[in-house]
Amino acid sequence: MKKNSFKSLTVALSVLLTSLMVCSVTVNAATPTGKRLKDVQSRVMVGTEFSSGFTNMDSTFFNTATPEFNIVTAENCMKWSDLEPSQNNFTWTEGDRLVNWAKANNYTVHGHTFVWYNQTPNWVQNLNANAMEAAMNNHIDKVMAHYKGKIPIWDVANECFEDNGTYRNSFWYRVMGKSYIEKAFIRARAADPSVKLIYNDYNLEYTGPKSNAAYEMLKDFKSRGIPVDGIGFQMHLDIQYAIDYNDFAKNMQRFADLGLEIYITEMDVRVSSNTNSAELDKQASYYKNIIEKCMAQPAVKAIQFWGFTDKYSWVPGTFQGRDNALLFDKNYNPKSAYYAVQAALATTPVPKVIYGDLDGNGSVDAIDYSLLKQYLLGAITKFPAENGLTVADVNASGSIDSLDFVIMKQYLTGLITKFPAQE
Ligand code: G3I
Repeated sequence: MKKNSFKSLTVALSVLLTSLMVCSVTVNAATPTGKRLKDVQSRVMVGTEFSSGFTNMDSTFFNTATPEFNIVTAENCMKWSDLEPSQNNFTWTEGDRLVNWAKANNYTVHGHTFVWYNQTPNWVQNLNANAMEAAMNNHIDKVMAHYKGKIPIWDVANECFEDNGTYRNSFWYRVMGKSYIEKAFIRARAADPSVKLIYNDYNLEYTGPKSNAAYEMLKDFKSRGIPVDGIGFQMHLDIQYAIDYNDFAKNMQRFADLGLEIYITEMDVRVSSNTNSAELDKQASYYKNIIEKCMAQPAVKAIQFWGFTDKYSWVPGTFQGRDNALLFDKNYNPKSAYYAVQAALATTPVPKVIYGDLDGNGSVDAIDYSLLKQYLLGAITKFPAENGLTVADVNASGSIDSLDFVIMKQYLTGLITKFPAQE
């Protein structure tokens, strides 16, 4: 009898202890003050990645992340190794979970990624050039068809350059030559013309050999009509390395001048594993300065972090002694970095777009019409006011399309006095 009571007491105590341990995570997680990051402003999307198996995460994970962001990337489950582990056998389960979760929570999904040297199965790597190209085409076709209407942005090519600016010596490059990159973009555009196609890489943030090489490639793509819509700056930073923020702004501008959209795709800022408040303040300043520059650049469409809580991050597994790179700590409490991002999103001026003001003089006037005529007749391919802004996108559909010209005609002939995007 006594033995049984002792046993019950032990069980009760261990249940109490377990619930206290579970509670401690919940109790520790402080709801951040102020507006959630996605609500601070409406010009750029703000996002995170979710790892595979995210549906099994604890409730604090979702309570913290869900209200904070409005765009999500799959950390791993939409990579080739996960989607097509053996030839033409696709496994959609995890990707579909992410897409369904995103739909239920009003998130945009950023697809990641088609051609990459990493996380691509051996069966692809061992093909000859023709077979590899056919496999690439099939992969892009099937994945884009499966996610049609559900994933509006895809990283088509990922990390194709070495840091010294030469083409990465990957199996893609060795077998197909550098043309694998443009072939992937052409195929992706044909598979689904409505999707934004991105070139994504790390260490592109500053001018220098790698960023110059990506710039030259994309400039060449634009001049030859190879379809590409945006550049992804991964932005994996470490407070050990100084940043020239003006150079970052200058670098973004030259990509914007090519007519490219800019996505910050995987931002995190590493500090020590055993960090301290001085390091965390320095980390916050990196986040603040980068995001202020992004907010001042109209071509920036999204700022996405590679995770949101230090509890789940690729950093400690890759960089010995480095960790704590994200906005929330391991107990989901917002860090100084969180408040720095919130402030940077809130206080930086949002550039004003006057749709239809093609020369950028502040109004839609006669010279805009003469420019439009030149554009329609093919005499110019770009409007003077377009520094990454789609100012001729007068119906605000995200692209300059035939509808814009129909509306423009109505405007010119006096049928309407305002464009829908100006309502
Ligand atoms: O799925 C296997 C599992 O079956 C196996 O038991 C386990 C043993 O190590 O490995 C698991 O695979 C791991 C995979 O993540 C899924 O968890 C790989 O080892 C691991 O290398 C892989 O790491 C990912 C890394 O890309 C690969 O390069 C990280 O989670 C992911 O955060 C990271 O993300 C990349 C972006 O895609 C591109 N830009 C850089 C960024 C950070 O490296």
